[in-house]
Amino acid sequence: MSVAPLRLAADAHVLVLTGAGVSAESGIPTFRDAGGLWESHPVEQVATPQGFQRDPGLVWRFYSARRRAALACVPNAGHAALVDWERRLGERFLLVTQNVDGLHLRAGNTRVIEIHGSLFRTRCARCDRPSEHDERAYEDGAPACERCAAQGRRALLRPDIVWFGELLDARHLSAIDTFVAAARGKPFVFLAAGTSGAVYPAAGLVDLASDAGAETWLVNAEPAENVGRFAHFLQGPSGTILPALWPVDGR
Ligand code: OAD
Repeated sequence: MSVAPLRLAADAHVLVLTGAGVSAESGIPTFRDAGGLWESHPVEQVATPQGFQRDPGLVWRFYSARRRAALACVPNAGHAALVDWERRLGERFLLVTQNVDGLHLRAGNTRVIEIHGSLFRTRCARCDRPSEHDERAYEDGAPACERCAAQGRRALLRPDIVWFGELLDARHLSAIDTFVAAARGKPFVFLAAGTSGAVYPAAGLVDLASDAGAETWLVNAEPAENVGRFAHFLQGPSGTILPALWPVDGR
């Protein structure tokens, strides 16, 4: 596949949004493709606060299996390209990911906002103690919060993932707004990769960026639901397209 390289001005800002498709070539299943996660695991059972209340053991078995599967995978060439972009752009780069698999961080990106949380963080379902890095598998029931127990309350720990019906972290949204405000009026590229454009507010970032003057690109295996809102659409695997899009001699 030949991909016309992106031409970036020397002072360009680049905002990238990634979704499950970027990790597909690492062997992590997507959500909405045939055979995707939501086909075999009903969303309401494993990805809502009500599902967790009903059967926390089931929810933890699901996320424990996803933790193990993600740890067995390695980042692919698409992830590596985004590490290279961050190295070249520094503070003029921001990566917003809907993925909870931690692969962007393991690849080496540091300017990452995990807007849907992380598989590898655990928090209390009740108290506001800070979430903690956690790679353990909980197969025999949901773990209890020790801080709540010490105060005589019963509370369970839960994955630090944004479930359906829950709000995104306001600090994350404000960090994105700050980046977009800094990019406004400058050469600005917004690129979404590997996402079906079905889940908001992530699917609306293209509009936020367009309103600030960004040139908008979509890299996806198939037309996303919001494809019409992008100026450019490159159809194909992100592991091939992202490395070709901004080669080292691309400016
Ligand atoms: P989806 O499963 O909805 O969409 C993945 C997209 O990636 C599809 O449009 C595929 O065509 C595309 N795709 C698959 N393989 C690809 C590849 N190798 N290269 C490029 N594109 C590829 O996943 P998301 O859009 O990430 O939320 O889903 C958004 C959110 O919905 C997720 O973060 C998750 C889910 O419910 C939470 O869990 C909170």
